[in-house]
Formats: sequence, C-alpha cells, structure tokens
Amino acid sequence: MLLYDCVIFDLDGTLTDSQPGIFACTKYALEKMGLPVPPEAVLRRFLGPPLAESFIKYCGMTEEQAAFATGLYRERYIPVGWKENKVYPRIRALLSALKERGVYLAVATGKPEHTSVEILRYFDLLPYFDAVAGPTPGDLHADKGALIRRVLPAGKRAVMVGDIAGDIKGAQDADIDSVAALYGYGEKNETLAAHPTHAAESPQGLCDLLCPDMDASKGFFVTLEGVDGCGKSTQAAALKDRLEQFGYTVRRTREPGGCPIAEDIRKIVLAKEDGGMCAETEALLFAAARAQHLTDTVLPAIARGEIVLCDRFVDSSLVYQGMARGLGMDWVKEINRPAFREGAPDATLWLKMSHEKALARRLAVSQPDRIEQAGEGFHAQTEAGFSELARQYPHRFIPINADQEPQQVTEEAFSLLFRRMKERGVL
Ligand code: TYD
Repeated sequence: MLLYDCVIFDLDGTLTDSQPGIFACTKYALEKMGLPVPPEAVLRRFLGPPLAESFIKYCGMTEEQAAFATGLYRERYIPVGWKENKVYPRIRALLSALKERGVYLAVATGKPEHTSVEILRYFDLLPYFDAVAGPTPGDLHADKGALIRRVLPAGKRAVMVGDIAGDIKGAQDADIDSVAALYGYGEKNETLAAHPTHAAESPQGLCDLLCPDMDASKGFFVTLEGVDGCGKSTQAAALKDRLEQFGYTVRRTREPGGCPIAEDIRKIVLAKEDGGMCAETEALLFAAARAQHLTDTVLPAIARGEIVLCDRFVDSSLVYQGMARGLGMDWVKEINRPAFREGAPDATLWLKMSHEKALARRLAVSQPDRIEQAGEGFHAQTEAGFSELARQYPHRFIPINADQEPQQVTEEAFSLLFRRMKERGVL
C-alpha cells in the first residue's frame, strides 16, 4: 500500500529545475533598475519563495520597488524565461505511476498560478494534476499553507513535497505530512531544520518513498537517418536538449563510431584517399563498427533506461551498401544480424530532403568524405532507398519534413518522437 493517496508538489526545485530562467530574469530586472546583481549564492535564494519577498529581503527594496522589479522580471519571463526550464528526471514516470494508482495529485506553488499552469501544460505534465494553486494577480505574498489548503481534498492521507523550509512549514500549517526535496534549491540545513516528515536526496529517492513498486525507467533506441547533408547532426544536438528538458536522460552517439574501436574503424572506412576499397569491405567495416558500438555503447545505455539518440544506424547500411552499392538487402541484413534483434531501433527519425539540396548544403560547408565523393547516381539511389525502407518499416520510420527551418524541423521531430515514446510507455 502507498503511504499517501494525495500528493501535493511544489513546482520550482521540486518538479522542474527552473534555475537558468529565474537567474536570467532576475538579472534582467535588476540591471534595468540600475541595481547591482547579487552573487549566485544569493540569487539561489530567489528560487522558491515569492519573488517580491526576495527583492525586498536580498536587494533592500521597498514594497513598491519590489512590485516594479517583479513587473520587469515578467517582461523577460513571459516570452522566454519560463521555457528555460527542465523537468527533473523520473518525475514524469512518478506522476504517471501515482496517477495510475488513483492518487490525487496537486501543485501548490509560489509561482503565479497562470504561469504555473502554462509551464505544466508545455511540459505535458498538466494532465496528471487534479488541481493547481499559485498566487493570483496582485497576490504578492502568497502564504504556502493557504495555497496547500486550496487544493487539499478532505479525507485523504496527504503529503506536501517541496524543496524549501517554507514548503515544510506550509505543510505543518495545513496539518499534513511533508517531504523535503533535498535535490532542489533550498538550503539543506534550513529545510531539514523545519522538521519535514521525510527527506528525498534525489528524484529517484522521491519515487522510492512515494511509489516503491513503480517500474524502472525504460530505455528507448532512436536512430536518425537521411541522405548526406540533410542536417542530422544539428537535429541530434537539438533533440537531445529538448528531450533533456522533458526529463529524459539522453545518450547521443553516431555511426560509424560511437565507441573507441568503432571510431578507429570509422577512420578507415571514410578515409578520402582510400578510393580502392571494394563494396564488400566497406559493408563489412560498417557492420563490424556497428556490432562493437551496440555492445559497448547502445545496449548498456538502454539497459540503464536511457534514451539513445544515434546519428545513422543499420538503415544507412541497407541503403548505401545494400541498394546504392548493389550488395543486396539480404546479405547486408545477414552481416548486421544484431541490429535486427536485440539491437533493433524503437524509432527511426527520417529527415526527408532531396539528395541534390542536401549535398549542395553539405558541400558549401565541408570537404566531402570518401562516400560523399560518390557520383550523382549513387546519391539519387540513397534518396530512393530511404523512401523504400520507410515503406518496409512503417511501424518504426517517422518521416520528418527536413526542408523547413532547423527549429521547425526540431519541433516536428520532437513532437512526433515524444508522442511515439508515450505510446510505448517511455516516461
Ligand atoms: P556521417 O559521418 O554520418 O556523415 P553525414 O553527416 O553525412 O551523415 O556518415 C558518413 C558516411 O557514411 C555517410 O556518407 C553515410 C555513410 N554510411 C554508410 O555508407 N553506411 C553506413 O552503415 C553508415 C553508418 C554510414
């Protein structure tokens, strides 16, 4: 049985790591007022309590100045600051597991209620919550105990989870238990001195306390594919950031390469001067690098519950060696057996772009490697090859329009991938 059937969470420093956005907006407000920016140790104290209170306490402002500073802060926070935020790892899985078990979930935060709802919606956390309470406009000194009471249902065994002493005191005020989230921003000694009922050193510790029988995190293997120059590397970097913001642990890697032995093979197989390499050698080298990469990097990361984001994988061999070099799909599949069994990707983001456009883009910025030096006919076949694989593996391929601006490509790729991950229970 679970310890509690009602869990009320603080937002900043408990569900999300909002430090970068809050620091940047606080600095913005102080600089606009021509005031000195306090050192980081002091800025950390702004994380959690109502903003106006911190401006008064740490910057010596009057009530009016604090209200003005809060307005300036929002000038930056509303368009950009709130997105400079990260869901802590495991939080999405915890909320989902608690919800599944019928636990009543709420948020009681010092952050304005409207903004809090927007943040929860943006990170796709809002659907887990039955209620959200935060200060409403003009309510600069929201009292945590009162906020908790606003979302507290009658007759439940309730607990408040928060990272600062104010959260613990608020829980006592509302007459419920509390958990100190020691991974947040609160001064550990101060938070503990408020006598929380429990303490969690990490988000995983919170899971162990509130839902000890929840599943370990599920790994997911994502590959990125497309013709040479379609922008995979840029997208891999941007997708890693987005997934991390949403609370996932991401291992970015690439092929050929991704571990020391496979990186050595990469040097041989892509060497510009090696024009005499026969197609079979090329295919076997790619397959050899892949077998090692799966063993050393991909499979261990998936076993740890991470999201593996791999720039090219076995589909590149099917297309480049199997089709464009004419070695045949069956043989290429045979030499890549692990990639169709325990090492099969869960999803393949296919960045769709014409080979002419992609190669022109690529050659504008870098020297061609041995494979990029292959002729026009070869590259036309790679474009056709990916279309063919998308038809053969519709459950795995996710086509993305790569002709858009890079940011739009990232948005499309992320939202389709995130939907696929949720469908597969990867939280
Ligand atoms: P990569 O470094 O990923 O280049 P790009 O940034 O253009 O994707 O890959 C190097 C080249 O290797 C690329 O032209 C595709 C080719 N390749 C194969 O032919 N077969 C394979 O199995 C892999 C992984 C890559």
